Amino acid sequence: MRQFEDAMPPARDRRRALDHTVRPTRAEVDLAALRSNLAAARALAGKAEVLAVVKANGYGHGAVPVARELEKAGVTMLGVALVEEGLELRNAGVKAPVLVLGGSYEGGYELMVAYGLVPSVFRPEHVEKLAHAAAAQGKGEVVAHLKVDTGMGRIGVALDELDEFLDRARAYPNVRLDGLLSHFASADLTDAGAAEAPRGGGRFTREQVARFREALGRVRARGLNPRWRHLSNSAGVLDVPEVRDGLELNLVRPGIMLYGLPPAGWLADRARLRPVLSWKTGVTHLKTVPKGTPVSYGGTWVAPRESIIATLPIGYADGYSRAYSNRAPVLVRGQRARITGRVCMDMCMVDVTDVPGVQVGDEAVLLGEQGAERIGAEELAALASTIHYEVLCGVGARVPRVTRDS
Ligand SMILES: Cc1ncc(COP(=O)(O)O)c(C=O)c1O
Repeated sequence: MRQFEDAMPPARDRRRALDHTVRPTRAEVDLAALRSNLAAARALAGKAEVLAVVKANGYGHGAVPVARELEKAGVTMLGVALVEEGLELRNAGVKAPVLVLGGSYEGGYELMVAYGLVPSVFRPEHVEKLAHAAAAQGKGEVVAHLKVDTGMGRIGVALDELDEFLDRARAYPNVRLDGLLSHFASADLTDAGAAEAPRGGGRFTREQVARFREALGRVRARGLNPRWRHLSNSAGVLDVPEVRDGLELNLVRPGIMLYGLPPAGWLADRARLRPVLSWKTGVTHLKTVPKGTPVSYGGTWVAPRESIIATLPIGYADGYSRAYSNRAPVLVRGQRARITGRVCMDMCMVDVTDVPGVQVGDEAVLLGEQGAERIGAEELAALASTIHYEVLCGVGARVPRVTRDS
């Protein structure tokens, strides 16, 4: 024990161990791009204010640096999925209102009241338990947002159960239903067969808007007037003009567009977005192998000629998917090279035979730009048969997030 104490660095060096950038692998988070994307969302949202969605570790970018920057930029609220994620923000000193979007609260009501986290409620016991936690902590009133299911089929009060829910919630006047929200299921899709996407979303999205209006009418008929009314994710912000009227819908909840990516390709021209995240590493080993040499587990790649193979210190334990084996592009010296053989847990190999002058220490870009080349999250997602959201959220806890302000 004693020998470790002697080896302890001075207090100013006591960063989270995994934030030491000993290996060159890092996720760079461009705060200027984040602010620019927020400005784009605000411009489209008209009079509606912005709740910035920072769940899932800020879509993999690092919830704390992202939330701090968005708070500085004056967003009205932040959105997380979990109580735990809200606590992380509070522990980091984030003061902005935080809405918990998920519905997993058991054991978390006291924490939500103590840390000023606002739950979205949709089961009678949510209101009841929140009310009790507030009373137990001597809080006169706590706020919650009421979530209705207008077509997502995930969480939320069904419209035909809304009146009963409101009857039961009335028994707990110390819980103020300060918001009404729902979530689009298909706002990123056009109607099948439509030659061109009409603004205003597909048929299903328009039905969701109509159901939301109906829910709002019923809530108001009970004498409740939720201050915040919100429905739009990024696709809604980019495509559904109802968010602009500033009357019924006065808050939007963009996620992916704040991180600089459109939710779907057909929405790409609706706003000038700048990707926030770049994923980088460096060449740690380089070797020339003769024709016929197998590389990595299982020998799924065999050198078709004498080849130069670079090793990179990143693997599937960092979220760099094993599905990228033998497929994914990597940028080295401004050129595209390709992963050779299987991606391992902590490393992967790249064929750099056609990239002149590669040296140990050279930067390798897995996601983002280098010179005139660029690898997008959508491109990696296609290789792993998934969506760009999952590529971003998948950047592992072991990867240090390094902020820059370009
Ligand atoms: C309830 C809710 N609102 C808003 C968002 C943000 O969605 P997007 O990233 O598509 O903008 C999400 C993300 O899944 C969500 O679950």
